[in-house]
Amino acid sequence: MSRCIVRVIATIGFALSALVAAPATAQIAQSPQLPQRPSAAEVRSPDGRLMVGVRVDGEGRPEYAISRGDAPIVEWSRLGFILEDRPKLERGFELVGHEQSSFDDTWELPWGERRFVRNHGNEMRVTLREKANDRRTLSVVFRVFDQGVGFRYEFPDQAPLKQVNIVEELTEFAIAQPATAWWIPGGEWNRYEYLYQRTPLAELSQAHTPVTMRTASGLHLAIHEAALVDYAGMWVRRVTGQRLKAALAPSSTGVSVRRAAPFTTPWRTIQIAESAAKLYESSDLVLNLNEPNKLGDVRWVKPFKYVGIWWSMHLGTHTWASGAKHGATTAETKRYIDFAARHGFRGVLVEGWNRGWDGDWFANGSDFDFTKAYPDFDIEALARYAKSKGVRLIGHHETGGNIAVYEKQLPAALDLYARLGIDAVKTGYVADAGGVRALGDDGRIHFEWHDGQVQSRHHLRVLEEAARRRITINAHEPIKDTGLRRTYPNWVSREGARGMEYNAWGDPVNPPEHEVNLVFTRMLSGPMDFTPGVLSLVGAGGRRIPSTEAKQLALYVVLYSPIQMAADLPENYQKHLKAFQFIKDVPVDWDDTRVLNGEVGDYVTIARKERGGDDWYVGAITDEEPRTLSVSLDFLDDRRRYFATIYRDGKNAGHEADGHDIDIETRPVSRHDRLQVKLAPGGGQAIRISTDNPHKPRSAPKPKPKPQPEFDVE
Ligand code: NOJ
Ligand code: CA
Repeated sequence: MSRCIVRVIATIGFALSALVAAPATAQIAQSPQLPQRPSAAEVRSPDGRLMVGVRVDGEGRPEYAISRGDAPIVEWSRLGFILEDRPKLERGFELVGHEQSSFDDTWELPWGERRFVRNHGNEMRVTLREKANDRRTLSVVFRVFDQGVGFRYEFPDQAPLKQVNIVEELTEFAIAQPATAWWIPGGEWNRYEYLYQRTPLAELSQAHTPVTMRTASGLHLAIHEAALVDYAGMWVRRVTGQRLKAALAPSSTGVSVRRAAPFTTPWRTIQIAESAAKLYESSDLVLNLNEPNKLGDVRWVKPFKYVGIWWSMHLGTHTWASGAKHGATTAETKRYIDFAARHGFRGVLVEGWNRGWDGDWFANGSDFDFTKAYPDFDIEALARYAKSKGVRLIGHHETGGNIAVYEKQLPAALDLYARLGIDAVKTGYVADAGGVRALGDDGRIHFEWHDGQVQSRHHLRVLEEAARRRITINAHEPIKDTGLRRTYPNWVSREGARGMEYNAWGDPVNPPEHEVNLVFTRMLSGPMDFTPGVLSLVGAGGRRIPSTEAKQLALYVVLYSPIQMAADLPENYQKHLKAFQFIKDVPVDWDDTRVLNGEVGDYVTIARKERGGDDWYVGAITDEEPRTLSVSLDFLDDRRRYFATIYRDGKNAGHEADGHDIDIETRPVSRHDRLQVKLAPGGGQAIRISTDNPHKPRSAPKPKPKPQPEFDVE
């Protein structure tokens, strides 16, 4: 649909052409909706509920505030920068202009949680000019949606500020109402792989985004960012009370961001919703603030499910390194290919096939060779074998965080995969935070942060090189998701939180509330390669995974990703074939998504409609509390008959009880039904709601056509 921009008139009592800047002296009367001080410029959401005000204070410091109806959401909060080699950009400003426009368009996601996204809001561009320092200017652009606010800085091309070296961004978020926060520490060694803490917001120290908050009045907020391109990732640090401030990920040079003007910063986003469920659904805001697809026709980007030589390494029964326990052998890979073909999985991930895993690769990676296989892994023959079975190998590039070594080999490494028909690659950056080795402009190795500017550039370089070869990327130990999948639809998934692997060897393992926390925190940012589906419920050394089988199934619906792994070993699925059927059936691409209920960290139920089909899938999970949730099926089509196949925790099920106690039942349902969704402690429920009647004997199956390979292997 075409983008329709309607210029609106500034809110000051005289008509102001949107193209003409408002005079700096124009101060409007104090708005009753904004806290205490008057604003110089205001913009509202389309429904009129949210309002952003901007002003400069007595010292010329720019500030913004957000209110919702009569309630303040963000108190006056500072804007600005500290630069390395130029006067700070933070006081002595006048507001020389503001102009508004509206936008309302709908665009299509090539793959996603839903098919169409509406981008509806009002924009206000505020121009600030310094009274001294050669009258440097800086613009701040606000976009206000019914679901929240995004704003970014624009550095224009101007003689006094050609090169911008940012030491600190001064953006604040002073949350007005007392709030509880769910957060993980920012700037700590384990990157994003922490358990979420729930504390009063006034006890947050420094956190990654998204940070999720619930105010005393029950409003749900999340601070995050959109379109993190060629910039440092933003953490938030608490200054005093509930006043948070941006803290940019550092760089090896002490300057977080170096950019030549003109350029724009990432968007700072604040999602505002009445409930946890609505907060999750408001995440389109982040996608809307990203640039449209840059890659053109991306029908080659395929959502898929996969299995792989992976969990056995995390269990310790196989090794990535060569030797007697080497996992990535030709024979073992064939076993996985056969299993994938038999059960309808498109992909087979193989880790540890290439040279460089012997010795200490952690935070080192100097030995990795991305084109040379270990002698017991015949990559050419395996690619041919996979093709003959209608399956594809999935590539793996673990770098140990050494992007200097990786970038040198990247074109050849991707060429090899492209030649073999391998069109999806999992990358990995295993190194502590601050331990990414990158080649500096001075020709020397520098240590960088996983979420610093250098790494933000690196990820886009990999995506662009991969896109040229029609390859998709799934990054582990990544930079956080800021919605760039809209611009680069080949960035299909990433890790960036504690995944299933922690249930193998984590200390502690992921507790039952972890995945519910993820839904309302990490998942607000985008897809996660969590790698669910360990139906054996056993980690390394026989340790019990605190979950139930039904919960493992529900995770495929609840934790969205267009690529989903069936992470367990084939021999374990063989023992749980009835439950495995759900993993085989569940799609990974959706026309629609509804969050039916939920509370952060407690429980959630999500329903998704399969892309291009009529069937719905429902997943519900709980923390350690047992619950019965009453779920209306009113999202179903009135004109259709449906059959629900329910995978439910049995009466003895629980994360500390019998995790394998699962009841599977099929019954007719309609949109007029309510289901009583019973969840055991640490449990879940998965439901397939299909227009096919599984009770009806099917006519004799047609002979299966020989799999047609979609690609050529030379
Ligand atoms: C960490 C990744 O998260 C995991 O999935 C992978 O198996 C190892 N690194 C080795 O690359
Ligand atoms: Ca990891």
